[in-house]
Formats: sequence, C-alpha cells, structure tokens
Amino acid sequence: MVYWGISALSHDASLAVIDDDRILFAAHSERYSRSKNDALLHEGLIEEALEYGAPERIAWYERPILKKLRHLRAGQWKDASSLQDMPSRYLKSLGLPFRVPEVEFADHHSSHAAAGFATSRFDDAVVIVSDSIGEFRTFSIAEYGRSGEGRLLHAQSYPHSLGLLYSAFTRRCGFKPNEDEYIVMGMAALGSPVHVDRIYEELLELKPPSFRLKINPHRGIGDWMADAKPEDLASSMQSVLEDVMVGAAVWAREHAGSRNLILGGGVALNCAANAKIAERAGFDDIWIFPNPGDAGSSVGAVAAVTGSRLRWAGPYLGTSIDGDYPIEPLVAELQSKGIVAVANGRAEFGPRALGNRSLLADPRPLDMKDRVNEVKGREPFRPFAPVVRAERAAEFFDMPIAASPYMQYVAPCRYPERFPSIAHLDGTSRVQTVERDSHPGLYGLLEAWEEATGCALLLNTSLNGRGEPLVNTWAEATRFQDRTGVRVF
Ligand SMILES: [Fe+2]
Repeated sequence: MVYWGISALSHDASLAVIDDDRILFAAHSERYSRSKNDALLHEGLIEEALEYGAPERIAWYERPILKKLRHLRAGQWKDASSLQDMPSRYLKSLGLPFRVPEVEFADHHSSHAAAGFATSRFDDAVVIVSDSIGEFRTFSIAEYGRSGEGRLLHAQSYPHSLGLLYSAFTRRCGFKPNEDEYIVMGMAALGSPVHVDRIYEELLELKPPSFRLKINPHRGIGDWMADAKPEDLASSMQSVLEDVMVGAAVWAREHAGSRNLILGGGVALNCAANAKIAERAGFDDIWIFPNPGDAGSSVGAVAAVTGSRLRWAGPYLGTSIDGDYPIEPLVAELQSKGIVAVANGRAEFGPRALGNRSLLADPRPLDMKDRVNEVKGREPFRPFAPVVRAERAAEFFDMPIAASPYMQYVAPCRYPERFPSIAHLDGTSRVQTVERDSHPGLYGLLEAWEEATGCALLLNTSLNGRGEPLVNTWAEATRFQDRTGVRVF
C-alpha cells in the first residue's frame, strides 16, 4: 500500500512516499522551488515523488477543520475564501496525473508523536511534543506502547504555547519568527539570563508538568523590556524554555512507565535544551526524529493514520546525486584550501546538512569561522558544528548522550582552543557523530582526513548561501561553486 504523507499549506511543505514500513522518499518543497520554507507543494517535488509510486492513500498532517475553528476563535479568520486551501480541494487544484484518493487526517500533535515513535527502536516510550501551534494543542505528553496507540498524559492548548513565545522573542531580538529561532538559540550564548525573573513575573508561569502564559504570544511581545540587550533577552528566553522542557521530562519520567524518551515538535530542534534534558531528566535513552518540526510530519501523518512502525534507515531520503562518496578529492582539497563542498548521495530530510549537501572545513585554523561565514554570508557570531566518528566523540566532547548522529545536542568542547571554529562562545559544540554503517562515505572521509592530518574532526555546515534552502541538485551545487570559488565534489 503506497501512502503519500503531506505537510503543506502552512510553512515548509514536505511530501513522503511510504510503502508499508519503508520510507521510499521524503523531501522538502523549498529544495525544489528554491524559496525558503515554501508552504506549497512544488511541481518538481511531486514529479520526483511520482517516481516512487502514485499514492493509493494520502495522509494529511493535521485536521484543517479544527485549525479553521481555532482561526475563528482567535480572530484570525480572514474570509470564506480561506476555505479554498482545504487539503482535498488544494490537491485537486494541482492537476495531479492520478485520481486523488480520499485524504485521511491525523491530529497535528499525533503526527509529530508518531514520526518519533514509528521511527524509533523503542517498544515503549514517553513522547513530549512541544511546538508553536497546530489545531489547538501546543504541548503534549503521551505514552506509547506496543499497540502503537498513544495515551495522553498531559496537554496544553492555545494560546499557551512555548513555541509561539519563543517566536515572539525571535521577533523581539530582530529576527524572523517561525524561521530564525535557531539564530536566537545561538545568540543566547552571548548574553546572560538576567531577565528570567521578569519573564516569570509577566509572561510565563511554570505549572508542572508544563506552564501557563500570562499573555497571548500570537500578538507578539512588542518592545517588551525596551532597553534590554537582544542577547540577554535570547539567553533569558532560552533559559526559561530549558526550565519548562527539563521540568516536563522529569515529570514524564516519574509519571510514565517507560525509560525511553522521544521529543517532537519544533522545540525539539533546540539542541541546547535537548542536551539539558539528556543530562538531567534521567531517561535511559532518547530518540529525536531528525526532522521533528512540521516538515517531518509528512512521515508522521502516515504513521499516525496507519498506526504502524517504520523501518528507519537514516535521513538520506531526498533527491539523489549518484556516484561514490568522493573521499580522496575531498581530503586533497581540504588539505590545500581548508574548505570544500560535497553534494553526493540522497539529500537530507530535515533542516541539517549531515554530509550529503555539506560544506566541510578544517576546524583548526583561527580564521576558519570567518572564512566559512564569509562564504555563507551569515552573522559572524553563529557557530559551526563539528562532525566526528562516533567512537572518538568522547575524546573531544563531554557528550550528554552516547550518539548524536543528527546534530541534535550541544556538548562542551574539551579543546576549544585547538578547534576554534567549531566551539561556540560558551564553549559548546553541536556535535554530529558518524557510525560506519550509517554513512560509510562520511565515516571513511573522517578516517582518511585524520590519517592525512592527525585531525579527527571536520567542520560541517549546510551547503547553501544566505537565506537559501540547502542545495538539492548537482546543477545547483556547481552554481554554488561558480559563485563562491569553493570546489564541489
Ligand atoms: Fe507542529
């Protein structure tokens, strides 16, 4: 049975093709339209998905009627024409070359939770989903067992949303809400959490196992604390988010029967909070789907409506650039130039470049961070991530968890002075660990790089220019090469 899972009409649309328990294909629309966070399904994405099979069934990642009802209650209903984007009507308007099957809907938070549980190896788990908003729910804790059915332990609803509050701070700090939250997380390390008490007084009250808000964050926070420094605001909001998430995880461990934790929803992209949860909540194991935000819910929607588990072989599920992983030319270019790009294999499903659409660099030179930031045209304070073979990670980082294959946790770097370009100002790094089986090419590259130079780490960042989606095709990769002078293999 071929399912198409779809997440669209909100932001960062994606499509997944799933045949029984195998994810054949999954990709983001933005990689095809080249328009960041594109909310609509691009025809190139649809064309490629069709190579893996036309759908016998379609699963949609949330319930549009409930969402409209929330818009109505929140005063965000524009006019009756906003019904035009209802999924079935929208899909029919695309002129697809097959008969569109009836669309099956999953709850927004069930899609998040199912994406995590279905792809995990756990027999049972407690799942915490925290995001901005889907229909009404904004925060949920559920227990999953062998049946695949979730049992809800706690839920929080609109307007009490941690994700929306973080987005309000994103705007307050001068960035784009619903897009630049990761910049605020990076900025938090530059400031001090001096406004935490004021946040608790005026904006958010901790109410175990979650929280209540004292304002409606959808309306933003205006120029709250007008004289405060953005980096202190970022640091304070980050600290509050960590308090909420660690508190919820501790509660979940004490009140649910499972020793396994799964995190989902956009807040699970916050790798500083994830590390605190790993250190403090006391779970035996943690799984975070590498695309835990709404884009990953194309996979989650299928798992939610079928209730079945999925075989997880890794996040390399998108467009393919064929050929062997180019280890020798990459090492040679890294040795002579210090920076190189790789566009090889299937594109990553999720926000991080994990070795198939990556810009790689020698993490040792003092000026490497500035050089890579210049190539990418991004804010100078932004840190870069290291990639290391899994069994070597603990030599260089105080890992909060055994493996971090999808860059989901920060860890204190033991030698920030030796690797200045991959350590953030607070001394932490967002580590990617690689096992030979999960990515033989990248693992082999790290081995060959160490053999040639004695250095076990590489800097790994996404292959894109400022404000662009990740490079998808070989043609885009060569355009990047022509524009920046960085060679692509
Ligand atoms: Fe969500």
